[in-house]
Amino acid sequence: MSQRETWATRTGFILAAVGSAVGLGNIWRFPFVTSEGGGAAFLLIYLLFILLIGFPAILVEFVIGRKTKLNPVGALRELGGGAWKYVGYIFFVTAFVILSYYSVIAGWFVRYSLIGVTDGYDDAMAQYEDQAAEQETIPADILFDTVATGLDSMVFHAIFMAVTVGIVALGVRRGIEAAVKLMVPALIILLIGLAVWAATLPEAAAGYQYYLSPNFGEIVANWDELLPAAAGQAFFTLSLGMGVMIVYASYLGEDRNLAKDGGIIVTLDTGIAFIVGLIVFPILLTATPDPDGELLIESPIGAIFVAVGDAFSTVPAGTVLGVLFFGVVALAALSSAISLLEFVVAYLIDEHGVQRKVAALGAGGAIFLLGLPVTYDLVFLELLDYFADSVLLLLGATILVIFVGWIIPEVAKDELSKGIGPLGSSGEAWIWAVRIPIVIVLLVSLALGVMDYASFLTGDFADWISANL
Ligand code: PFF
Repeated sequence: MSQRETWATRTGFILAAVGSAVGLGNIWRFPFVTSEGGGAAFLLIYLLFILLIGFPAILVEFVIGRKTKLNPVGALRELGGGAWKYVGYIFFVTAFVILSYYSVIAGWFVRYSLIGVTDGYDDAMAQYEDQAAEQETIPADILFDTVATGLDSMVFHAIFMAVTVGIVALGVRRGIEAAVKLMVPALIILLIGLAVWAATLPEAAAGYQYYLSPNFGEIVANWDELLPAAAGQAFFTLSLGMGVMIVYASYLGEDRNLAKDGGIIVTLDTGIAFIVGLIVFPILLTATPDPDGELLIESPIGAIFVAVGDAFSTVPAGTVLGVLFFGVVALAALSSAISLLEFVVAYLIDEHGVQRKVAALGAGGAIFLLGLPVTYDLVFLELLDYFADSVLLLLGATILVIFVGWIIPEVAKDELSKGIGPLGSSGEAWIWAVRIPIVIVLLVSLALGVMDYASFLTGDFADWISANL
């Protein structure tokens, strides 16, 4: 970020932002948190969050970036002065924490892609048939367990992190933006194909029922868990709440219509996650049918691996398709991981004058170490993921909306109008939405998120510690 470039092509900005947004948040995290939230109840709250909060919030980050043409720390210092620059430290910690476990999960995708190459999914599953019968589950569930922790998981975490560090150290991001152009359409085609196939499964209707038909009683009963989970997921999937979109918009010229660009990014990102749900739930309810329509898999964390792995072991040409699918997702994860590491590295370069290669290697090494416990036991995945998602991202997002809504509302409206024309009442509506309802919902979600996290620490995590240490 030391030299201020602007995007070479008109689509460069959208591609980079989509490359950051579309990743494991859509493919792995979305089905995982949706199944934890009980399916449709979660989906409904999540979609409301994206529309009513995610979209206004992406514009908040865009205007800060384009107005100042600075990194988030510099931008907040320039626009707000004083203590606002310290917000940057929260962003730094968030990126650090997210990337540490993101890389482990991306490693699982790389591994799954290779399983197709070396064994084929049908053979890989066949190995576990007896064990699965004993444990009353499906082979795909056991395969996931063997990939998720242990030496393999560690090695693939190392490989994925090394590639991310290499690209960021060399500053060769251009190639990645070109890759996004191919990757996103390929991903969408693969996902639609899988969704159409999943529609033909015997329990497809039960899957849709679980995913699409919300039980309002459930929402009312569980709102205190659904709210922070849905808010966190909305920010995670859109790469919001830690300044990444501030960085991307800081490279923009004046002439883009930010509302339109934001709309494209949000629609693509949400559409991709939504289709993933149309695939995962019919498959899971067909593979492990339950009379009550509940999901019967051991670890929801692995929902996508279990569902899609199972599917590829049965469909014709499943192995080729599986290698492609897991490989494309690993690439999508790479473009998101690069945006996270680039964020950390740019901060070290800009604020502390560290050399790019040193910063990339040093930060990458430290992030790798932080992720290592996840490869040992998935309880550490929850420890890091919930902290980043239900606490850090919500905190960062809350501060940013307060900043724009209360400290620089006029500057923000003026900046948003560039490339759009006079905003009139929609500009007012945006600022008032940001000022009061969005701030309130975020504060409530944050408070609930902190409480949920505290009860995880004193509950499940404390139990794990006392059982294992
Ligand atoms: N949005 C990415 C995903 O959905 O996988 C994850 C992510 C990237 C979050 C960059 C935050 C971020 F700054």
